[in-house]
Amino acid sequence: MHDAAVCWAVIPAAGTGTRMRNQTPKQYLHLGNRIVIEHALARFICHPEIQGIVVAIDVQDRMWPSLVIESPKPLVTVPGGPERAHSVLNALRHLDSTAQTRDWVLVHDAARPCLTDHDLNQLLMVLENDPVGGILATPVRDTLKHGDADNRVDATVDRTALWHALTPQMFRLGVLRDALEDAISGSEIVNDEAVAMERAGLRPRLIKGRSDNIKITYPEDLALAERILATQSR
Ligand code: CTP
Ligand code: MG
Repeated sequence: MHDAAVCWAVIPAAGTGTRMRNQTPKQYLHLGNRIVIEHALARFICHPEIQGIVVAIDVQDRMWPSLVIESPKPLVTVPGGPERAHSVLNALRHLDSTAQTRDWVLVHDAARPCLTDHDLNQLLMVLENDPVGGILATPVRDTLKHGDADNRVDATVDRTALWHALTPQMFRLGVLRDALEDAISGSEIVNDEAVAMERAGLRPRLIKGRSDNIKITYPEDLALAERILATQSR
């Protein structure tokens, strides 16, 4: 008899935030009463179903050691890699020593501070018995235009079946590790975990989440996230 599968969180936090154009990597910027990554971590630290958390940190990072993060469950760091997928893979390899291959792993961007408990619970609930796993996502709301090299519209894209991929993305440890290893060794661009799973011929489930689960990407996103968090806490 196997023990029941449990859930782990992986937080890739080894990016430098080039689009943010700030000396400080965006996961370490102040947001309300905390730092961006503290908001992202808090959901997983507090959630009773998450057994432990692995954070991927850039080897040059001098900010992480200055944070005081209290966690009643294991919270460990691993070195990041050149791309997000390498950072996630390092974390999964670390989990291999403590977790079972069929345990669930929830990968969540350090730069995504507005995840709600409701969406996290929804993801866990819907996927509990899913053979593949899936991701939080939100339907595309604007009309989509395909532009040519001169930024002139050459087509309008039907948005009805289109979704924005968010995080957390939740898959089984062993399958995800193999899928990421395979994708990376084929030197393909792996923007998220789902794309590695799709490459392996699997079809991740889309779980509708809030559109305000934004990833801090551009400078104006910080003020937006601040307003979102203020509204959510009301
Ligand atoms: N990330 C990571 N390792 C990398 C690159 C990114 O762990 N080599 C993490 C980031 O820290 C972030 C998440 O992956 O939490 C999503 O990536 P993204 O928004 O692209 O962050 P950056 O790569 O830091 O930003 P940019 O692409 O603008 O440089
Ligand atoms: Mg990036």
